[in-house]
Amino acid sequence: MFKKWYLWSVLCFSALQIFCSQNEYNTDFYEALGAETLKEFAVKSGLDSGEDVKRLYPYIKNAKVILEIGAGYGRAASFIEKGMSEFATLYLCENVPSFVKELETVFSDPIFVLNKDFRELDEKAFLKEKPDLILWMWSGLFDFAYEEQEEAFKTLKKLLAPHGHLVVDLPCHSSVTNSTHVVNSSIEGEEINIRNGDIVYIGFFLSLERMKKLIEKAGFKLDKIETYKPPNTDRERAQYFLVIENE
Ligand SMILES: C[S@@+](CC[C@H](N)C(=O)[O-])C[C@H]1O[C@@H](n2cnc3c(N)ncnc32)[C@H](O)[C@@H]1O
Repeated sequence: MFKKWYLWSVLCFSALQIFCSQNEYNTDFYEALGAETLKEFAVKSGLDSGEDVKRLYPYIKNAKVILEIGAGYGRAASFIEKGMSEFATLYLCENVPSFVKELETVFSDPIFVLNKDFRELDEKAFLKEKPDLILWMWSGLFDFAYEEQEEAFKTLKKLLAPHGHLVVDLPCHSSVTNSTHVVNSSIEGEEINIRNGDIVYIGFFLSLERMKKLIEKAGFKLDKIETYKPPNTDRERAQYFLVIENE
């Protein structure tokens, strides 16, 4: 019985990999993984501390409209909520059904859940103004294959208000510092595999060079890169601060 179930699940995931886009395949991985296991990953990477978000409080405090891309079960959102102005609005975009359900249970006005693939978002998703701060935390960019990353950046450029900031948080690639650690993973060249039982997440690491190309192609300018280590880990992470070119 177990053997049959095992073969069936391996077959289903192999088929998914063939027929889905990389991003769809990875969001199916998150659905199968569930919030509880993702919470364990957060502890292992030191991100349960919210250090990644707390570092951004000067930006969060001054923002009028904040958009978080791929909000998951709400880890980062719970820290953003603590740092945002009482007049600000926070939008949480997520498309994994079980995470969306959890977000809708926990958060309410002025925090709104957008149950969508963020690439389908346009200005109509927001009540009044476009976001002046977009946060893409905890390596969310890796959920996209290289070809998809370009499209994703272009969408974010359209969504961001003039003079706004986009912050992208990723583990450090060796081209930024010497460390390339990702929790529970194996790294083959620039591809990261995270195994959860029979299910494998496939993510795409970006060298500084590749990241700079993406940024430029989408019409962003790299304002600065800051590196940090979340508490109780030896894993260095990088935060890329992007602004719209020529504004
Ligand atoms: C590593 S988790 C990060 C969760 C959260 N941002 C945090 O920092 O705790 C990445 C999240 O992005 C979501 N995601 C991936 N692709 C997405 C897409 N195209 N549209 C919306 N959400 C997406 C995944 O479902 C997952 O919940």
